Amino acid sequence: MKFNLISNKIAEIDVDTIILSIFMSNETTNGLVHDVDLALNGLISEILSRGDHKGKLREVTEIYTNGQIPADRIILVGLGPEKDFNENSIRHAAGAAALRARQLGSRKMASIIHGIEKSQISANYAVRAATEGTMLSLYSFGKYKSENKIDNIEEISFIKDEDIESKDLISGIEQGKIISNAVQLARDLVNEPPNICTPAFLAEQAMQIDDANTDVNILTESQIENLSMGAFLSVGRGSTRKPRFIVIEYNKKLLGQMQPLVLAGKAITFDTGGYSLKSASGMSTMKADMAGGAAVIGALQAASKLKVPYPVIGLIPATENMVSGTASHPSDIVTASNNKTIEIVNTDAEGRLILADALVYAAKYNPKHVIDLATLTGSAVIALGEGSAAALFAKDTNLADLLLTASESSGERIWRMPLYPEYTDWMKASNVADLRNSTAKRDTGIGTSAAFLQEFTEGFSWAHIDIAPMAFLSGSSVIKRLGPAGATGFGVRLLSHLMIEYAN
Ligand code: BES
Ligand code: MN
Ligand code: ZN
Repeated sequence: MKFNLISNKIAEIDVDTIILSIFMSNETTNGLVHDVDLALNGLISEILSRGDHKGKLREVTEIYTNGQIPADRIILVGLGPEKDFNENSIRHAAGAAALRARQLGSRKMASIIHGIEKSQISANYAVRAATEGTMLSLYSFGKYKSENKIDNIEEISFIKDEDIESKDLISGIEQGKIISNAVQLARDLVNEPPNICTPAFLAEQAMQIDDANTDVNILTESQIENLSMGAFLSVGRGSTRKPRFIVIEYNKKLLGQMQPLVLAGKAITFDTGGYSLKSASGMSTMKADMAGGAAVIGALQAASKLKVPYPVIGLIPATENMVSGTASHPSDIVTASNNKTIEIVNTDAEGRLILADALVYAAKYNPKHVIDLATLTGSAVIALGEGSAAALFAKDTNLADLLLTASESSGERIWRMPLYPEYTDWMKASNVADLRNSTAKRDTGIGTSAAFLQEFTEGFSWAHIDIAPMAFLSGSSVIKRLGPAGATGFGVRLLSHLMIEYAN
C-alpha cells in the first residue's frame, strides 16, 4: 500500500473514496468536512442533524457524491467523544474506515488527518496513528487459501492544510509504516502453522532482518549445550525439531560506549504441555506460544528501520514442547546456565525454563534494561481477560513507567502486577532443588511465574510482560482490535514506541 500527501482542494482530489471524520459533538469544525458539505449541498450537515451518524468511535456511514465532486463516495467515520480523543481513537477510526472502504471495493482513498483541528495531538503523531490503524486493520493471512483472496486498497493520500509542514507528516507516515510492517511480520510468524514454523524456520526468518547495522546469529543445539543452558535444552528434548537460540544484535558497534536495551522473547513453536499434557482445547492455540519471540524479531526489525540511536539486542530461545521417549519427566532436575537447579514439577511450565537461560545470557551485555515478552501463563488470561491487557511485572518503577508511557502512545495495554516476595518463597519450596518450576496452587500461577524468572535477573533492571491474554485472539473477543482474529503481533508497537520515546 502506497501513502501520499495531497493538498486540500476537494475538486482536485481524484480518488474513489474520501474519508472524513466527525467527533460525537457533531459539529463540522473541520474545514475540509465543511468544504465537502458545501459541495454536496449540505448533505453531511443533514445526516448529522438527523442523528443518522452519531460520531461514535468506529461508526461508519457511506455517502455517494453523485458526480458533485470527483470522488465517488465519502466514508464518514466517528472519532468518539472529544474528551476521550487520543492517538488510539485515530487508529480505530482510520482502521474502521479503511475496512469499510475495502469492503466497498475502494482502490484509492484520501483521508483527512483525523481530529487535529481540535486536539493537542501533533499532525506528525496523528498521521503515524492513522497509518498504523489503516495498515493493521487491513492485515490478512491468506497465503494458504487458494480462493477468496482479499483485494487490498492500493493507495491512501492524507489531505493536508498548507500550514502543516510536509516533512513532519512524511516522518509520521514513515514511522507508522515501519511499525506496522514490523507488527505484520510478527503476525505472519505467529499465524504460520507449527508444521512450518519450527525453531529452524523462525531462525531463518530472523536472518532476513540481518542488515548493515543488524547481526543475526543462530546458535544450534551443540552451541547451546556449550553455554550450559540446561533449562532451555530440557524443554526441546522430546522433539525431533531441534532448538535454536536466535541472537539479534542491532548497533553492536556502540556496545562499548552505551548500555543496550535487551529484549527476550519466548518462542515455543508448539506447546503440547509435554508429559503434563494439555487437553485438546488447551492445545488449540499453542502454535502461538512463540508470539513473544515473534514480537522481539519484529521489534528488532523496527529498531533498525527507525534508526534507534543505541544498541538493542534480541534474544529468542526457540524450541518445541513435545512428548516422546526423550522428553522431560515431571520430577526431572535440570541445571540452568547460572548453576541454579530446577525441579520440573510440571512440564507444561516450560516457558520460564527457556527464558531463564535467555535472561542469564542477557547479563553479559551489561544491559541498561531487559524486557522479556512471553505467552507465559493461562492465569494471566484469567486475571485480565482475553484481549484486555498484558500483565506487566517490573523490578523497578523507572522501567515500569517507561513501558506504561509507551503503552499510552502505542495503544497496547499493559497492567502492572506485583512481585511479592512470597511468590519467590513458593518457587523456592522444592524439596530437592534450588527452585521448582511450578507450585501446585492454581491461584498463585501468574505471580509465581514472574517470581521464578526474577531469580535469573541478578544485576540488571528487568521487566516481564505476560502477553498470553493478547497474543492470539479468537473472533469472539468483544474488545475492538486492529486486524482480524488470530495473531495480533502484540508487543511490537509497544516496544517500537518505547524505543522512539526513550531516544528522545
Ligand atoms: N503457553 C502456556 C500459557 C498459555 C495458556 C498461553 C493459554 C496462552 C493461552 C504455558 O506454557 C503454560 O502452559 N502455562 C501453564 C503453567 C502452569 C503449568 C504452572 C499454565 O498457565 O497453565
Ligand atoms: Mn506450557
Ligand atoms: Zn507455553
